[in-house]
Amino acid sequence: MKIALIGFGSVGRGKSGIISAGGIDMRAVLDRKKATGMCGTPGISAWDVITTADYDLLIEVTPTDATTGEPALTYIREALAAGRHVVTSNKGPIAVAFHELSRLAAEKNVQLRYEATVCGAVPIMKALEHGLAGNEIIKISGVFNGTCNYILTRMADEGLTYQQALMEARELGYAEADPTYDVQGIDAAIKLVILANTVWGLSTTLDDVDITGIDSLTLAALELADGQECTIRLIGEIIPKKNILRISPRIMPKNHPLVVSGTLNAVMVDTDMAGEVTLIGKGAGSRETASAIISDVLFIRDYHVKRS
Ligand SMILES: NC(=O)c1ccc[n+]([C@@H]2O[C@H](COP(=O)([O-])OP(=O)(O)OC[C@H]3O[C@@H](n4cnc5c(N)ncnc54)[C@H](OP(=O)(O)O)[C@@H]3O)[C@@H](O)[C@H]2O)c1
Repeated sequence: MKIALIGFGSVGRGKSGIISAGGIDMRAVLDRKKATGMCGTPGISAWDVITTADYDLLIEVTPTDATTGEPALTYIREALAAGRHVVTSNKGPIAVAFHELSRLAAEKNVQLRYEATVCGAVPIMKALEHGLAGNEIIKISGVFNGTCNYILTRMADEGLTYQQALMEARELGYAEADPTYDVQGIDAAIKLVILANTVWGLSTTLDDVDITGIDSLTLAALELADGQECTIRLIGEIIPKKNILRISPRIMPKNHPLVVSGTLNAVMVDTDMAGEVTLIGKGAGSRETASAIISDVLFIRDYHVKRS
């Protein structure tokens, strides 16, 4: 199976492209990117690769734009329309245009997979699609943002203020220079939109999510929770039958399965037959995200071989 890779940063390891029928020496490309900041041949763009290269599968790992989904949305649409499978870790296009893209994939008899978009290495999509197949999914709740979870853990464990914990998260590389997306709950809300639309077939957008972040949470609130053997976590929750789609800081018993530490993510799925199933793992990181992408690629390889 021939693969086109768009995005060569933390996950995909720019913008210049390489097209080679004889294969690509990845070590040489990595060295060139390190030395020059470019991985390919000036003059060959990502769009050239997508539209002119001979490939079966596009791995799309460019930066996320949660409002427009671009440029990834155009890349993915083009690849699917040309009958290519797509794997992406990019939340933008899946949150913005899941139904359009999945219809296009079905029409062209190709796969669109996006395991890495929700909770990085945690195989939540495959658990929902395969492991829990046949169950009615009643509710999904979880810790969907590792940066917020790290900040809350440090505030509770070490008595740090929100600002001190945020500064520490930045120094350790867990928080961006501009942490707005994370601490205001927007990143977690995008993941809820993806789950709501893909699991229940809803047509939700970010505007439908009731969002409260952790940026105005005080140490006093955490201390109060601590006195009751509880703590506070930023919890995302979807209960379609009750029209609940929200992200908010919640007081949780310390022994609750969703009370995970540090940068971990956790997702609890409430089902009719299997009961509650909880998955815990790393929600970000280049290797962890690559793990989810590779599992999608291997899934597609099997599908591709069976189809041909
Ligand atoms: N890192 C994680 O832990 C993680 C976890 C889950 C999901 N994700 C998602 O995975 C995607 C990739 O993340 P990342 O951390 O690898 O990002 P990154 O380090 O910023 O890398 C992005 C790559 O895309 C390239 N790029 C930028 N604009 C482009 C364009 N218009 N056309 C083609 N290529 C373009 C960049 O090229 P230059 O190098 O030339 O700028 C870079 O190689 C994002 O959507 C992110 O949200 C990441």
